[in-house]
Order: sequence, then structure tokens, then C-alpha cells
Amino acid sequence: MIASPLPPPSTDAPVLREDDLFLLLRHLARVHGQRLDLYREKCLRRRVEARLRLHGIGSCGEYLRYLRAEPAEAERLRQALTIPVSRFFRNGSSFHALERLALPEILRMRGGDRVRMWSAGVARGEEAYSLAILWHRFTADLPAAPPLSVLGTDVDEEGLARARKGAYPSESFVEVPPVDVERFFVREGEQHRVAPRIRERVTFRAGDLTGELRVRGQDLIACRNVLIYFDRALQESLGEAFYRALRPGGYLLLGKVETLPGRARRLFEAVDLRERLFRKPLNALVPPPAAAMTSAGISPSAGERP
Ligand SMILES: C[S@@+](CC[C@H](N)C(=O)[O-])C[C@H]1O[C@@H](n2cnc3c(N)ncnc32)[C@H](O)[C@@H]1O
Repeated sequence: MIASPLPPPSTDAPVLREDDLFLLLRHLARVHGQRLDLYREKCLRRRVEARLRLHGIGSCGEYLRYLRAEPAEAERLRQALTIPVSRFFRNGSSFHALERLALPEILRMRGGDRVRMWSAGVARGEEAYSLAILWHRFTADLPAAPPLSVLGTDVDEEGLARARKGAYPSESFVEVPPVDVERFFVREGEQHRVAPRIRERVTFRAGDLTGELRVRGQDLIACRNVLIYFDRALQESLGEAFYRALRPGGYLLLGKVETLPGRARRLFEAVDLRERLFRKPLNALVPPPAAAMTSAGISPSAGERP
């Protein structure tokens, strides 16, 4: 007999049935008011099973009892499912593509008018501040740089509170050259805080991408490492919502392994496929019909419309 190189499958590995997952998501929706049923099932399942393994829990019923007894675990589970982590200039080549291909065009299109950027799924704020720093560097030598407003939205309130504070540990800066850390951050004890001239260009707001998005008039939307967790239908309707949120000629940057499916993909021109940079055609006039989305969503703040 030939010995198998693999260990026998573990009999105590937790396996969630379909209705188990449904019960857990319903519990999270009740506790946090957040819909996770539009997320990719495989991702959710893997992450929930990891939590069960961590606590040595073998069944969904037992885990639900634990969740009810330990509200902090419900928050940890929600974070494990939505992954609110990021860093400054994450995947640096995407920011180089923005600098080379998108910012010169945005500058030309806007003339001296206010430029608007939106980081959707901003986690703890690093991506929104990176966009503001990029714009600051790009326009530094101009006699009069057009004003910039960056909006950062996320469902994670804890992450948003940290984003508003704008102070980060050294791990957040692995992709930032030391000279830029010196230039755009102020040391505060063990952390570095975003300099006031960058912070004042960025605002953060709670917003759920599974709801209705009423943001409009954006020149650039970065939605990176977020779509990957959503199912195809939500990816498609979000692509349409981003199209409506952009001005004609505005840019959409996705994560390195993300793309838009179906109808949504056909709305955009590819600018740099490797960097997942897309553009709403300059001659785009007619918005596609609003997708039937409900719940919390994201509304424009004062002055956000073109
Ligand atoms: C992995 S982080 C990406 C952060 C940043 N965009 C980046 O690429 O570094 C994913 C973020 O998406 C947020 N997110 C997940 N579901 C969301 C939803 N329905 N609406 C808004 N944000 C969501 C999470 O809270 C998390 O902060």
C-alpha cells in the first residue's frame, strides 16, 4: 500500500451549512445593521470557519450562543469579514499610474476648479490621505493649484474614527519613502500624524456600498480591495453607481485583482488594465438607470455636486 502524503482530513474542522451562514449573517445584520448577504459566500464561509477554529467551536449553534454572550466577538467577526486594513500608497504602481495617466488629464479638465476624489472603502484613511498627498506633490510647482476635496467612506466606524485622527504606526508607511514621511507627517510619540495641510483636504463619512450611492461630481474614485468581497450582482450595480458618481472623463481605480463584470465594464474605457485604471468616456451624457438599491447608502455632503 502506498502511504498518502496528506494527513487524514480533520473530523473536527468546522463546516458551515448554508443555513448556518444565513443565521450568522442575520445576527450581524441585527447587531450592526450591516448587510453581508451580498458578499461572496466563499470568502464569508472561510473567514467564519477561521473564527470557529480559533475558539475551538465545532458548530454554528454553539458559535451563535457565544456571539450572543460576547458582543465583542460579533464586532471581531464583522471586522474579520470586512477587513478594515490598509497602508499608505498601497500597491505603489497604481499611484504611479494615477500620477502619469489620470492627474494631468484631471488638471486639464478642471482648469482652476475644485477637484473631487472619493476613496470608497477607505478603512483607516490611508488611501484618502495618499490621494491628497499625491495631488499635493503633483501640483506643488504650479503657480496656483486647483483646490482638492477627498472624501473617504467606509462602513467601519472604528476605522473612520482612526482615519479622522490621522495618526498611524510605522507599519502603515512601508511603501512611503522616508523623505515623504518627513514632509507630510508630524511625529507624535510612537506614531506619525498626517500634516494639517493634507488633513484639511480630506473628510470621512460612514457609508455602505451595498446601499444607495448619491455621491456625484467626482473626478476620481478609488475603490480598491473592496469589490473582491462582493458578489457579481453587487459588483455590477456598484460599477454603474460609480459611473453615475463620476464626471464625464473621470477615473475609476480598482484593486490589482479586481474588475467590473458585465454591463458595468462596458460603461468604462480601459486606461491601464494592469493597474485596473478605467475612465468614464468624456462624451458620456446619459446616466444608466439607478440600480434598485436600498438601505443606508452614501449621500453627498454639502457642495459635493458638480
Ligand atoms: C481591505 S480594506 C481596503 C482598504 C483600502 N481601499 C485599500 O485598498 O487599502 C476593505 C474595506 O472595505 C470596507 N467595506 C467592506 N464592506 C463595505 C461596504 N458594504 N460598504 C463600505 N465599505 C465596506 C471594509 O470596512 C474595509 O475597510
